[in-house]
Amino acid sequence: MALLIEGAGGTIRFSKFMDWALNEPINGSYASGKLKIGIKGDFVTSPSLGPEFSDLLGIQIAEWIIDFEKQLNSQNIISLVEIGPGEGDLAFNLIQFLKRDFPKLLDKIELVMVELNDGLKKRQKLKLASISEVPIKWESLDKISKDPLTGIFLAHEVLDALPVDILIWENNDLFLQGIELTKVNNKNFINYVNLPLPSSVKQELAHINSNLSINIPPFNVPNRWKTEWHIGQKSWFKKISACIKAGNLLIVDYALEASRYYHASRSEGTLISYKEHTASPNVLDDIGSRDITAHLCLETLISTAISNDFIYVGETKQGLSLLSLGLSKKLNLLQKNKSENLAKVLESRENLLRLVDPMTLGDFRWILFKKNIDFINTRFLDEPMD
Ligand SMILES: C[S@@+](CC[C@H](N)C(=O)[O-])C[C@H]1O[C@@H](n2cnc3c(N)ncnc32)[C@H](O)[C@@H]1O
Repeated sequence: MALLIEGAGGTIRFSKFMDWALNEPINGSYASGKLKIGIKGDFVTSPSLGPEFSDLLGIQIAEWIIDFEKQLNSQNIISLVEIGPGEGDLAFNLIQFLKRDFPKLLDKIELVMVELNDGLKKRQKLKLASISEVPIKWESLDKISKDPLTGIFLAHEVLDALPVDILIWENNDLFLQGIELTKVNNKNFINYVNLPLPSSVKQELAHINSNLSINIPPFNVPNRWKTEWHIGQKSWFKKISACIKAGNLLIVDYALEASRYYHASRSEGTLISYKEHTASPNVLDDIGSRDITAHLCLETLISTAISNDFIYVGETKQGLSLLSLGLSKKLNLLQKNKSENLAKVLESRENLLRLVDPMTLGDFRWILFKKNIDFINTRFLDEPMD
C-alpha cells in the first residue's frame, strides 16, 4: 500500500485507500482471496450461514421467475444475476432450492455472476462446479451493458463494500479525510489528513440538501464529527441500469435513514472493518487482510437509483421480509420434525433465529427497484401473517 500511495504522490482520498485495501489485484483482501466469508472465515453474511436464507428468499425469486415467464415471450431466457457473490453461497443454495421446490423453472433461467475480484471468482467457480441444470456464466457489468438482460438482479452486501470517502467537520469547516504516507527513520506510516472538499462533493451536498432536505453536517455537531460520502454509488447505479433491459433489482444491506445516519450523535460514522469475526473501527490496521464496510443511507440510495431510471418499489427490514416469506412456519416444522438428525435441526433453528435477530442480520434492509416492467410480486413486503 505504501508504494501505491507513494506512486500517487503521497496523499490519496480515503475512497482510493478503501478500493486498494479490498480490490487491488495482488494485495487487496477480496482480490487476493485472503478474506473469507463464513463461519470458518472472517465474517458471516446471511447466505453464508447455511441454506435457510436462500430457501426463504428463493420463494420470492421463484414467484418473480413465474411473473417474468407469464409476462414475457416464453422463448426468452430469464437471467438471475448476482452481483458480488462472495463465496457463491447464495447462488448455490438458490439453485438447490429451485431444484427441490420448483424444478420446472430451471430451464427458464440462466445464472449470471458479476464478480470484481479474481480471488473470489475462483472459489465461486469451485462452489458452483456441480451445477449442471442451469447455464452459468461470469460477466462484467461493462460486458452485460452491451447486450442488456431481462430478469432478476441481486446485490447482497455489495454496496457496503463500494469505496466511500470520509467527510470530517473540523473547526467549523467540512473537509475530506484522506490518507497520507509519512516516513520516519525510513519507516512508512499511514495517517489521516484533512483535504479540501472538492467542488463536485460540495455540489452533491447542496443537491441532497435542496432535494432531500438532508444537512451534512447536521446542526450542532461536535468538532471532528465524521461521516461517509458514498462516492461510488452514482456510477454503480448507472452501470447496473445500463445492464437491465427489463427487470428488478433487490439490494440487501446495512442501511439507515438519513436522520439516523447523519445524526450529530453518530460522530464516528459507520465505517468498520472485520477480520476473524472481530469488528474494529481501525480501518487502517492489517491492510489487505480485513473487510472494510460502511452502511448505506436509504434516502440518498433511493434518489440515486431513481435518477438512473429505476422505479422504487419498497423496502423493509430483513426480519419482516423473512417472516413474510414463511420463516415462522419453517421454525414450527423444525420443532415437529423428529426424524432428522437433532444437531442439524438445532443448527437450522439457530440459523433462522440469527437471520431475524433485530440486533444483527434482522436489521438489514431489503430494498426493491424495478426498471421497464409494470408487474412485480412483492410478497416480502407484505405484512407477516404468522
Ligand atoms: C461483503 S461481500 C458479500 C458476498 C456475498 N454477496 C454474501 O453476502 O455472502 C462483497 C462481495 O462483492 C464483491 N464486490 C465488491 N465490489 C464489487 C463490484 N464493484 N462489482 C462486483 N462485485 C464487487 C466482493 O469481491 C465480494 O464478492
